[in-house]
Amino acid sequence: MSKRYVLGIETSCDDTAAAVVTPEGEVLSSVRISQDAIHAQFGGVFPEYASRAHIFNILPVVDQAIREAGVPIEDLEAIGVTNGPGLVGSLLVGINTASALGMAWNKEVYAVNHLRGHIRSVNLEGQEIEYPSLLLLISGGHTIMGVMKTRDDFEVIGQTRDDSLGEAYDKVGRMIGLAYPAGRAMDDLTAVGETSIQFPTPLLRDGYEFSFSGLKSSVRRYLEKNTEYKQADIAASFSKSVVTILRKKTDLAIKEFSPKSLVVVGGVAASPVLRAMFREICEAQEINLRLPPIKWSTDNAAMIALATYDYIDKGIKLELSPRYRVPVNDY
Ligand code: KG4
Ligand code: ZN
Repeated sequence: MSKRYVLGIETSCDDTAAAVVTPEGEVLSSVRISQDAIHAQFGGVFPEYASRAHIFNILPVVDQAIREAGVPIEDLEAIGVTNGPGLVGSLLVGINTASALGMAWNKEVYAVNHLRGHIRSVNLEGQEIEYPSLLLLISGGHTIMGVMKTRDDFEVIGQTRDDSLGEAYDKVGRMIGLAYPAGRAMDDLTAVGETSIQFPTPLLRDGYEFSFSGLKSSVRRYLEKNTEYKQADIAASFSKSVVTILRKKTDLAIKEFSPKSLVVVGGVAASPVLRAMFREICEAQEINLRLPPIKWSTDNAAMIALATYDYIDKGIKLELSPRYRVPVNDY
């Protein structure tokens, strides 16, 4: 049987990425150009600059991904491209590029839900999910908890009412002078800081709903009152609240839904602090923990390429137009 190869393209936010992946999750190439340096000065993604940078970067990124994979164009089965959720101007660059390449190379082009890509990131490099599974998607755009009975049966049990978890990391990081995106630096500081400040744990006892905007505001109020603070102590105390919230809700959901595995995906799942906490929970509750390797937690095109096979194999071809919002349990 000849091998199958899909080219994935991802431009939903501020990373321009392309990858070639097999249905088994083998990553033949994955190229990503980050725009962090461009957006750092604004403390967040500046959409106009994001789409312009995508225009500059997309063709070299795709070219490199194809060359590194060593797969001749004629052997590519299809192209998969993120069509949302994301910034419309950014999505358009990926979609238009994929459409043009599809025409030039005579390949089918599939529109892929970015969130399905994050869920599929767990299967990159061969890991499998045992169902039913409890899923936590924690990224810069989303904070969603749900139960997956199969890959196609996903029920949302809770989400954030305001800021996403990644947004909270980035905004608190910005308040203490860290560059965007601040998640990684917040983690590094957490390792050396003291959890000496009591920040709140909003909605701790409210089932599976999350809220991070109150936590963020309480950090702001603390900083206004205490101008002499230690950066690392703020980061560590903020992380402590996050850990308390995630631990409580994950424990509760494992007791209620008895999943065989816990799956944690999205950029914030790159956090070693949170990874260690989820490991502890799963050991205590005796269930499997399924985390994507750290490099596949943050946005990448390999997860989009892998998710494309779900669309090909089910014959799901959606319109190639950008979608600002897309439900997590939709195609
Ligand atoms: O999944 P992602 O790359 O993009 C979205 O789809 O939103 O997630 C980006 C988010 C950012 O908010 C970033 O600060 C956060 O993931 N992040 C982290 C870490 N690495 C990235 N948060 C906490 N700890 C990290 N190590
Ligand atoms: Zn993402």
